[in-house]
Amino acid sequence: MSEVEGGLTSGALLPEERVLDLTLRPKTLSEFIGQEGYKKQLRVFIEAARQRADVLDHVLISGPPGLGKTTLANIIANELGVSMRPTSGPALERQADLAAVLTNLDAGDVLFIDEIHRLPRVVEEILYPAMEDFKIDIVIGKGPGARSVRLELARFTLIGATTRVGLMSAPLLTRFGVICRLDYYPVDEMEQIVTRAAGILEIELDPEGCREIARRSRGTPRVANRLLRRVRDFAEVEADRVITGEVARDAMHMLQVDEVGLDVLDQAVLSAIIDKFSGGPVGLKTLAAAVGEEPDTLEEVYEPYLMQVGFLERTPRGRVATPGAFKHMGREPSPDGGTLF
Ligand SMILES: Nc1ncnc2c1ncn2[C@@H]1O[C@H](COP(=O)(O)OP(=O)(O)O)[C@@H](O)[C@H]1O
Ligand SMILES: [Mg+2]
Repeated sequence: MSEVEGGLTSGALLPEERVLDLTLRPKTLSEFIGQEGYKKQLRVFIEAARQRADVLDHVLISGPPGLGKTTLANIIANELGVSMRPTSGPALERQADLAAVLTNLDAGDVLFIDEIHRLPRVVEEILYPAMEDFKIDIVIGKGPGARSVRLELARFTLIGATTRVGLMSAPLLTRFGVICRLDYYPVDEMEQIVTRAAGILEIELDPEGCREIARRSRGTPRVANRLLRRVRDFAEVEADRVITGEVARDAMHMLQVDEVGLDVLDQAVLSAIIDKFSGGPVGLKTLAAAVGEEPDTLEEVYEPYLMQVGFLERTPRGRVATPGAFKHMGREPSPDGGTLF
């Protein structure tokens, strides 16, 4: 199984998608589909900050890959009319890395830290006073001659994005004034997202074709954009260009994406739990080894959706396939009580 096939319906960004992501990225709150509650809140906070000529409170955006975290961060900066400096948790290895970024900010700027849960703890510590008082204390020199210097920063807004809010420390979490927890999009919103992307990419699709793509995109805009293009390729070669329901279904069959959007790797996960571990519970590492995937990828990218559709449960003793998963995979739950159910 190639990596790309396995990752077809994962929300993670594939290397060839960078340009596509930029092309399709909404630039304003009104172009951003769904998440109505958060959009309403953000509109108010942004407007209030503008009226007071002050910075927006720090914002944390969490959620699985491909749901629009980076997009939303860009939109916030855009609506505030300020520039955004992007960086990421893993890129800020030492305190000096973050200090350099912070001292280069202009008043009002948005600092975007992607994967903020991966910020090393020592680096995180200088973020606290920066977020709270727009000040940092850094130590200059070594040994007896070392001294601490306080630096004043421009007032800025931190926007953090994370796929793993559970890994964030309480002191960091409490310093965010606004928290947006993005969740998988319902099918009707996914249809709007597919329609919008098809318009931009000049892809012809009928309502049924749109619905087929929307409901197999696992509530994830990036996956919808990806499937739309793959189905378009299929429509151009195998059909009469237009994506109809039938064309979409045939294309998905070829791509091995099933009716609820599970791809070969998701199915491999479920069959491993069911067939190799009698329905579970099975530990994450053992399961990852059984399907040849990294435990982190399994946990961050695949499991959230399998849990969302009710096929997988995380228990203290390990991962368990639910009766729904047995049914979906066409298996009978084992009568000897091999599962917890
Ligand atoms: N609410 C949305 N409306 C329309 N398109 C969206 C929305 N959210 C995400 N997208 C699309 O999905 C792609 C991935 O979004 P992105 O912000 O990079 O996700 P994340 O940072 O959460 O992984 C974007 O290029 C954009 O085209
Ligand atoms: Mg992102």
